[in-house]
Amino acid sequence: MVAQADAFSANNTQDNTLLVRSPVSKEKIGSDFDSRIMQRCLELARRALGRTSPNPLVGAVIVKDGEIIGEGFHPRVGEPHAEVFALRAAGVNARGATIYVNLEPCNHYGRTPPCSEGLITAGVAKVVVGMVDPNPLVAGGGIARLRGAGVEVVVGVEEAACQQLNEAFVHRILHKRPLGILKYAMTLDGKIAASSGHSAWVTSQDARSEVHQLRAACDAVIVGGNTVRHDNPYLTSHQVGAHNPLRVVMSRHLNLPENARLWQTAEAPTLVLTEVGANPHFQDLLLKQGVEVVEFASLTPDQAMAYLYERGFCSVLWECGGTLAASAIAQGAVQKVLAIIAPKIIGGSNAPTPVGDLGLTTMTEALSLERVRWRVIGTDCLVEGYLPQKS
Ligand SMILES: NC(=O)c1ccc[n+]([C@@H]2O[C@H](COP(=O)([O-])OP(=O)(O)OC[C@H]3O[C@@H](n4cnc5c(N)ncnc54)[C@H](OP(=O)(O)O)[C@@H]3O)[C@@H](O)[C@H]2O)c1
Repeated sequence: MVAQADAFSANNTQDNTLLVRSPVSKEKIGSDFDSRIMQRCLELARRALGRTSPNPLVGAVIVKDGEIIGEGFHPRVGEPHAEVFALRAAGVNARGATIYVNLEPCNHYGRTPPCSEGLITAGVAKVVVGMVDPNPLVAGGGIARLRGAGVEVVVGVEEAACQQLNEAFVHRILHKRPLGILKYAMTLDGKIAASSGHSAWVTSQDARSEVHQLRAACDAVIVGGNTVRHDNPYLTSHQVGAHNPLRVVMSRHLNLPENARLWQTAEAPTLVLTEVGANPHFQDLLLKQGVEVVEFASLTPDQAMAYLYERGFCSVLWECGGTLAASAIAQGAVQKVLAIIAPKIIGGSNAPTPVGDLGLTTMTEALSLERVRWRVIGTDCLVEGYLPQKS
């Protein structure tokens, strides 16, 4: 599950070079041994995929005389940080050892005491850090504290892979919004459903399994009212023991089926975002089934993302149709796009397409994705990339 869950990451850990994302230096930081141990940190960190928000995914490994003597990862918010678990496992042997950690150790009192102090007290001789923590409460402070106490610190080992793993956390910190990922499945002729609205299934089982893993790594998944009416989706990760994201429905009118699968909340929670006063009878019905309802004066993708940010989310998967997708893109609620293309043709001049009207009229205005990667999944092809950032 761990390796598969990373499958949608633009920088799959296997592919990563040792180049550092720094404009001043493109030199390899650290030895091959350092890189291998940092990759182990990332592997450990991924065990908590989907469970740590608003915190990052962090793994730590302690090495002495070339042997791993302690490992740990941050399992969820409120629990100790990765370094604490690794120090506990290493015990007194941590004195004089080297600790590897994919994110700079924290230096502030939050829900847990600062890891920089814990490392100094344990007497570690060297700290190898994957990337600096963008959180203004840390932002180099942990590294400075360690260096001030005479601990050797190396920064930037496997930095690109470390940045990739925590891209949603970094986005949340820098932009005060969750990372928005638009995912859709379409035919070779660019349709996400037949003209009847029927869409099960556009892609192969292999691709659908990867989508389930992607959901397990995200905090929330959003659809619009039409997708509930047409598809009656589950939107779960369909894996025993895996994390299920919060399932979010955006519907202004609440003219939705009373017995939709999304109203069954035993397996996964559901939140309905709507507008003030919409269909009070239906709201009562949802509340009785354990579905949360939140009303907005005006429901927009940006309002939804602002609300999900306040709830502590790092990553939000847009699995909606073209109407809502266009609105989400136009409002800057989407940063990353994952398009799965099935080699089949459905035709239909009125069949829905992945993105509705963006108001663009010439091809020169098209939104060109950046950092684009292509990959074959079973019989389908995945294209992933990032929308250009608005200045
Ligand atoms: N192949 C795929 O990957 C895929 C994925 C998802 C959907 N689909 C297909 O897409 C079709 C539905 O697409 P769609 O675009 O009509 O539906 P949609 O994704 O359900 O989005 C439209 C609905 O979102 C709600 N909404 C709330 N706030 C909105 C806002 N600010 N802007 C726009 N919409 C807002 C409205 O629901 P209310 O009308 O309830 O107010 C609106 O009708 C279905 O045929 C489905 O099978 C395919």
